This record gives sequence, C-alpha cells and structure tokens, in this order.
Amino acid sequence: MNSMMTQLLGWVDARFPLSKMWKEHLSEYYAPKNFNFWYFFGSLALLVLVIQIVTGIFLTMSYKPDGDLAFGSVEFIMRDVEWGWLIRYMHTTGASAFFAVVYLHMFRGMMYGSYKAPRELIWIFGCLIFLVLMAEAFFGYLLPWGQMSYWGAQVIVNLFQAVPFVGEPLSVWIRGDYVISDASLNRFFALHVIALPIVLLGLVVAHIIALHEVGSNNPDGVEIKKHKGPDGKPLDGIPFHPYYTVKDIVGVVVFLMIFSVVMFFAPEMGGFFIEAPNFIPADPLKTPEHIAPVWYFTPYYAILRAVPSIAGSAFPGVAAMGAAVIILFFLPWLDRSPVKSIRYRGLCFKVLLFLFVANFIMLGYLGAMPSTPGKTLLAQIGTVYYFAYFFALAIIPKFEKTKPVPERVTS
Ligand code: HEM
Repeated sequence: MNSMMTQLLGWVDARFPLSKMWKEHLSEYYAPKNFNFWYFFGSLALLVLVIQIVTGIFLTMSYKPDGDLAFGSVEFIMRDVEWGWLIRYMHTTGASAFFAVVYLHMFRGMMYGSYKAPRELIWIFGCLIFLVLMAEAFFGYLLPWGQMSYWGAQVIVNLFQAVPFVGEPLSVWIRGDYVISDASLNRFFALHVIALPIVLLGLVVAHIIALHEVGSNNPDGVEIKKHKGPDGKPLDGIPFHPYYTVKDIVGVVVFLMIFSVVMFFAPEMGGFFIEAPNFIPADPLKTPEHIAPVWYFTPYYAILRAVPSIAGSAFPGVAAMGAAVIILFFLPWLDRSPVKSIRYRGLCFKVLLFLFVANFIMLGYLGAMPSTPGKTLLAQIGTVYYFAYFFALAIIPKFEKTKPVPERVTS
C-alpha cells in the first residue's frame, strides 16, 4: 500500500509540483518559534473564508435574486429547507466573525509592526482584502431584501451622488435604476456570489505568497532569516507543519466553540448581527425610523456623519470615510520608527495605539446610535484622533525612547 502511494506521488510529482509545494509552504516553511495567540487570526480568517464560501453555495441553491421572491426565499430557507436555518445562521454569524477576526489580525500587525519592510506588500494585499471584504458584506446585506437591507443600500449608494461631477450618473450606474430595485438586487447578487469572492480568493493567495517570500514577523519583531544554522535553516525557526498546524487546531477549536454559542443561542446578537427591521420585507415607501449599518461598518459610518456637509454636499463626509480606509495603505511609510514590535517601543507608542483602539470602539458605538449634538461632537473628536494617530507615527520616532531590540527571539 505504502509503495503504491509513493509511486502515485512520484507520478503526480513528475507532472505537478505537489511535494515541492507541500515542503515550501508547510513542512519546510520555517516560522519563528515564538508565535503567540495573536498569530491564530490569519488561519482563522482562512477558516471563515471557507465557511462563507461553502455555506454561500448552499444558500444560493434555494435563494431567489428577485425583488418579489427574495424575502420569501430566505424565509423558505429558514423554515422549509433541511438544515436551512443552520446554513443561513452559519453565513450570517460568519460575516460578523470574518470582520472580528480580520480586525484582530490587523491589530496584531499594528502591534508588532508587521507592515514594515520587508512586509509592505503583505500589508497592502491585506488592505485590499479589507476593502473587498467590505464591498462583499455590503452587497450581501441587500440580498435578504428586508427593510434594513433596502434602506441601508439606498443610503450608501446615495452617498456616491456626492462625488463631484459624476455623482448622479455614477449612483444610477451602481443601482441600475434611479432607486434600489430589482435590477440592483440582481447585480448585487452577481457581485456577491461570484465576482468579489474570486477577487477575494486571488488576493488571499497573493497575501500568503508574499508572506512566504519574506517570512513571518513575530512578537519580538526580529528577522529570523538573519541567523541561519550550517544547514541554512533559521536558528529561531520551526517548520510550520507539524508545529503550527497543530497549534492552529487549538485556535480553531476555541473559535468554533465561540462561533457555535453565538450561532445557536444568539444568532441575531441583540440586533448587532441581524437587525430587527430586516425581518420585515423591503418597502420602498416606508423608511425605517433609524438606519444604521451592521456593527463592523459603524466606525466608518461615524466618521462619515461627523464631517459636516459643505453647501449641502455630503462629499466631505464621504471623502473622510474613504480616506479613513485608504490611509491604512500608507501605514508602512507613515510609521518611521526603526523598531517593529510594541515590546521594544516607547511608552508614547503604546499609549497612542491603546487610544486608537479605544477610539475605534467609541466610533463604532457612535455610528450605531442616532446622532445628537453631543454624540456628533464626540464623533468629530474621534475622527480627528483616528487620522492624527497615523501622522503621530511619523513624528514620535524623533523623540521616542525605544528599548534595545534583541538579535534573536526571546522565548
Ligand atoms: C480574508 C482575510 C485574510 C486572510 C485569510 C489572511 C490570512 C493570513 C495568514 C494565514 C497569515 C499568516 C498567519 C498569521 O500571521 O496570522 C497572514 C499574515 C499577515 N496578514 Fe493577513 N489575512 C487576511 C487579511 C488581512 C488584512 C485585512 C491585513 C491588513 C490590512 C492583513 C495583514 C497581514 C500581515 C501584515 C501579516 C504578516 C504578519 C506577521 O508576519 O507578523 N491580513 N494573513
């Protein structure tokens, strides 16, 4: 049996680099030996991507992308399709889990300076993934054709009207109509189930190829390739497989436990994952009292609302919201500190990063609430701090007292 398998593998290897790829990316990919739990989130993002694709395929089998039928087809999935409720709740919980995992994954990068040279492209591919993920979630949210789906899409697409000169035709082009309608539903469906997942998969492959080209960073921010043994292998590295495949299983088990608790006991998460108005079919003649996006968009929505319109044009807010995402792309060049990891950076960096996270959560809360003058002022302060953080990173290295970075990993 064994020799038959070896022969079969030899046959495949002569025609396709299977063993070579296995070695390059798993059994002989040397990863730093000091990864901590923050390094779970990349593999968890991969897991959620697979969950979303598989559950998405099964949902598509019973879903109808039609203004008259879409809402009913989702109810049909929930009540009549065998295990349909489970598949749908896996998909809706998966959408929120995706953002939770990706936000934590990005935070890890910011903590350990993983965006710095030579990993700028890994970060840029990551930022592109983030952008596409936002579009993917936005298009998917229209599909159940509930009140919040409809009015959320209406509000967001109307924002494009604020773009100077081309705003009006641009928003009609996106909708395929003058308001959100059956035509919009059809194109959002096409983008959600095929176009964007392909782009997302391509970007994830590019992200990992770039990572394996330069090698992983680690909590010490030390380059393990600088110290190699006589066999040419990094002294502080261990093969990804079996060491990290086994370690990642621990992360996967814990993650799936939390995921299951949410999915089985609180799939709506008190209206944060699925909002109450979305249990009412879309009604183009009746606007819900309070329109707010899903939690993962609310920090950016708060920035949008915080910036005042000029001469009736919402463009400044739209531009600020766009800039809040685009600025992430420039992080590798804005942060001028030669020290990567938070472990060896000065107190000012630690305080700034802590405040950045607290501020992002505050913006998320404000974006989910109806605006009042007091909340708008807070959101304006939060918006200024959001952008100030990035520019502060360019300035603080001038006076930051960093600790000496060790040559080799410490634990
Ligand atoms: C579908 C979404 C994503 C997937 C599947 C994914 C996957 C991965 C995987 C498997 C790793 C290696 C394991 C690890 O370091 O945790 C990784 C590393 C990395 N990712 Fe992502 N990622 C995603 C999104 C992002 C985003 C949005 C960003 C940033 C904007 C990002 C930035 C990084 C960086 C900088 C590294 C290298 C970290 C280091 O070596 O310390 N990723 N990613």
